[in-house]
Amino acid sequence: MKKIIASNFKTNHTRKSTREFIEDINQYLSEKNIDNDVYIFPTATSLDSFETASNLTIGVQNAYYTKSGSFTGEIGTIHLDEFGIKTILIGHSERRHILGETQKEVALKYNYFKALGYKIIYCFGEPLEVKQAGLTETLGYIWEQFDGIDLNYENLILAYEPVWAIGTGISATTEDIGTIHRKIKKKIDKPLLYGGSVKVCGLQDILEVPNVDGVLVGTASWVAEDFKKMIYIANKMDQNSKKIICSTEE
Ligand code: PGA
Repeated sequence: MKKIIASNFKTNHTRKSTREFIEDINQYLSEKNIDNDVYIFPTATSLDSFETASNLTIGVQNAYYTKSGSFTGEIGTIHLDEFGIKTILIGHSERRHILGETQKEVALKYNYFKALGYKIIYCFGEPLEVKQAGLTETLGYIWEQFDGIDLNYENLILAYEPVWAIGTGISATTEDIGTIHRKIKKKIDKPLLYGGSVKVCGLQDILEVPNVDGVLVGTASWVAEDFKKMIYIANKMDQNSKKIICSTEE
């Protein structure tokens, strides 16, 4: 399977810079004939109709489990339908831990968008104190984040994102990633991404870990040149390049 590369803009980029970014990436994919699946998750205010290659998907970082209604500050599926958006991130740690989404709410959202056939990138991962408590505790914590989640859903991509590695500049080690991904893949046969301080240099090492099908990147993906380098690296690796690369110049 070709490696998946996804960019989560979080609360970054304006409407104008989002359009420029997407057009830039789209052009890069066609110029270089790259057919890896690439995802970009802009802010809700920057959603629009974009002309994109079939392997470039624009998704939404969040939406409420409704078509429309009275949910101040939220958007519903009519706002996604307007732009043909059919891909959503669910369970991201910032929504769980900063915005207080409970597992019950995450599952409600999951089931709502599953019933509508959305592609779901479902995020999960443990906080530092759980990691420090050991592997059994970490796995126990992760399995609880699958409560109410249909793991057989055909349009599901999983993303393991340890909370302590997100936005901290400290990625999990390839050993840690390997251990968790192996345990998850044993039980769930779905594409499994890693996320948490992934950077251009270091990406190849992570993509080489068995059971890593791609990455979900925040901070290091917000500059289009860097995101292109990541796409380039993923593409090279699919061609079995063994050379360590962290730039587009070989
Ligand atoms: P980060 O974010 O790359 O900035 O750590 C990853 C994510 O939250 O998806």
